[in-house]
Amino acid sequence: MTTTRKKSKALPAPPTTLFLFGARGDLVKRLLMPALYNLSRDGLLDEGLRIVGVDHNAVSDAEFATLLEDFLRDEVLNKQGQGAAVDAAVWARLTRGINYVQGDFLDDSTYAELAARIAASGTGNAVFYLATAPRFFSEVVRRLGSAGLLEEGPQAFRRVVIEKPFGSDLQTAEALNGCLLKVMSEKQIYRIDHYLGKETVQNILVSRFSNSLFEAFWNNHYIDHVQITAAETVGVETRGSFYEHTGALRDMVPNHLFQLLAMVAMEPPAAFGADAVRGEKAKVVGAIRPWSVEEARANSVRGQYSAGEVAGKALAGYREEANVAPDSSTETYVALKVMIDNWRWVGVPFYLRTGKRMSVRDTEIVICFKPAPYAQFRDTEVERLLPTYLRIQIQPNEGMWFDLLAKKPGPSLDMANIELGFAYRDFFEMQPSTGYETLIYDCLIGDQTLFQRADNIENGWRAVQPFLDAWQQDASLQNYPAGVDGPAAGDELLARDGRVWRPLG
Ligand code: BG6
Repeated sequence: MTTTRKKSKALPAPPTTLFLFGARGDLVKRLLMPALYNLSRDGLLDEGLRIVGVDHNAVSDAEFATLLEDFLRDEVLNKQGQGAAVDAAVWARLTRGINYVQGDFLDDSTYAELAARIAASGTGNAVFYLATAPRFFSEVVRRLGSAGLLEEGPQAFRRVVIEKPFGSDLQTAEALNGCLLKVMSEKQIYRIDHYLGKETVQNILVSRFSNSLFEAFWNNHYIDHVQITAAETVGVETRGSFYEHTGALRDMVPNHLFQLLAMVAMEPPAAFGADAVRGEKAKVVGAIRPWSVEEARANSVRGQYSAGEVAGKALAGYREEANVAPDSSTETYVALKVMIDNWRWVGVPFYLRTGKRMSVRDTEIVICFKPAPYAQFRDTEVERLLPTYLRIQIQPNEGMWFDLLAKKPGPSLDMANIELGFAYRDFFEMQPSTGYETLIYDCLIGDQTLFQRADNIENGWRAVQPFLDAWQQDASLQNYPAGVDGPAAGDELLARDGRVWRPLG
């Protein structure tokens, strides 16, 4: 049961019983089943994989399998542009092992049934995937522990996958970690952040640490500041009741945006193994300067969208969405400035922003370089040196682009921004994927590199806690109409430092 990162991913994962708690929920439908299907298509699942749905509804094994097939057809294949046909052979391979346990997550008899399923499966290996509402996480894990289902043997691993949100502040995250670690070891816990399943996110480490060019300028001598943006055009859709008590900060920052920050800012790991990579990530997130409450207020902006327009379509404001209070003070946009107090980054601000109903879908990291000295251009046509960047686009147009300066053709010395670029689609054939394939496969083979360790999660919450505390005292919101890139105050956060957000898209 090693957690060393494998050299090759060609082999099917070992036979395992994969229990999906919350089997009839949205996550299983939209992401997990499609990912399992893609893994099966790629020959990465063992014939002995058993998928056992666990939920409270009364459904037979056959009905459950049909339900999953319907999910698959509707949700993914259409989206991936493969037409409506599920590959019958791939599906047949997967359904051989699908069955269902009807049970209450809070009832001990459910766990006795799970034990019976493992005993009948022909393998002692089991993964318990908690695709449930967060209030069940500690309850389910405690019962798995009491039923002896987390006890490993030499030929039997037992692992638990926990979805986000992992806690709602530092205290609840610590309490949840405490509860998990009471019944199992860190090596058995797989805390998911689906951003780590994205190829472009994984590529940040590979590009940074395989091209010596990057290391030469990757520090506060050459980098002026870093911008990290996750802009979405979608609103809260059907998730109003979840979002109302979550908001943009908790939903996106301590998890997804800090993962991006960690990938950009961490020191090189000694090896690409779970311990080394996660150790460096925890270290850099732990080096984020803890703002006082006053500093946190000054270095943050909360926004909420009102009615507006995206791509010519009229859209309701957040307060008009289903299951949202008409006087809601939940933020749908947040912009923050954080500082990392270590030798590499001291003095380099990291500006983070995320929002719903912005003008475009764009998740990107912009590394902004310090300007070259102007003096040498004083007697030329060049009035000032334009900013230069490295832009790493995570989605939707995956790739990396340098915005540099070059001489404009002509007799005088003048210059313009030019672009040197790498788009994934120009170099690689990308198979349709949900991002969960790697994560599920890695869990089945015991590789924790792309999962969050307890200290990483807690360091993230520690860094956002001052913002939560500041907003507890003053929850004022800046309004922005749907379809623009956040409130004006988000721009002012940079403007007061003499900087601007790079335009999105
Ligand atoms: C989820 C958030 O974790 O990430 C959602 O709960 C958000 O609110 C989503 O929309 C964004 O993920 P992606 O992969 O579309 O950037």
